[in-house]
Amino acid sequence: MAPSTSPDSGMSAELPAPYGTGPAQAAPPAAKPAGRIRTHHLRQAKEKGERFAMLTAYDQYSAEIFDDAGIEVLLVGDSASNNVFGNETSLPVTVDELLPLCRAVTRSARRALVVADLPFGSYEVSAEQAVATGVRFLKEGLAHAVKMEGGAFYADTVRAMVQAGIPVMAHIGFTPQSEHALGGYRVQGRGDDASRLIEDAVALADAGAFCVLMEMVPASTAAAVDAALDVPTIGIGAGNATTGQVLVWQDMAGLRGGKMAKFVKQYADLRTTLTDAARAYGDDVRSGQFPGPEHSF
Ligand code: KIV
Repeated sequence: MAPSTSPDSGMSAELPAPYGTGPAQAAPPAAKPAGRIRTHHLRQAKEKGERFAMLTAYDQYSAEIFDDAGIEVLLVGDSASNNVFGNETSLPVTVDELLPLCRAVTRSARRALVVADLPFGSYEVSAEQAVATGVRFLKEGLAHAVKMEGGAFYADTVRAMVQAGIPVMAHIGFTPQSEHALGGYRVQGRGDDASRLIEDAVALADAGAFCVLMEMVPASTAAAVDAALDVPTIGIGAGNATTGQVLVWQDMAGLRGGKMAKFVKQYADLRTTLTDAARAYGDDVRSGQFPGPEHSF
């Protein structure tokens, strides 16, 4: 593994160095992903007490930019349903809709581990169905791993997928695909429910999940889950004790409008930037300022 040229990047000793952190600032030619982050790098990060970042990505430019910025894991989330396809929830999105997005992300990210979400209805029926869907994401979507919502009930499914050669990231706590069953967006794993969450995580890790993601659980519960596992954990609204963190990129970069969940931190205001750019372009076109002589042949 190549040592990082960025001594302050935290997990640099274990993970392949981000492109753009070396003196030359230039990305190596695509093709061979010699510095690709693998699932074992994430495990090593946990062993070393290091952290890693994950963002969703659904297209070429978001994947390229986040990869260049050193984000270790890209998730082609079923959140594409309500961030790309205009649905209200994550439930309607299909495997066939996610596959081309996944291909675009994997082709565009040279370093990041690309994880594809198994959408609602694509794995619940049987382990065979889950394996078949996982195979499609690795074969047609070019993903490196899949993510699957659900607790200990799905341990045998995870085992079957791992045996088939499909790395699985488990997703517990609030699982958006079950929002109707869970009665809406509610924090999970509070009080006595914390032990159930720990049991879920242990069962999934024992079944071979390489990582356990927790959404909207109390920080103390997430810390207990993390302590109970050898595999790394990822949090979204799960406090600061997990090995990694994930956010939906349109939330993180302020592209989505409206009310943000408490766990979102916005690092940019792309909605305003893009609105201003579109307004200025529209004004220029209507006033005849654009195109100018410099844009004309
Ligand atoms: O699809 C998604 O974006 C997710 C994250 C919220 C973890 O599952």
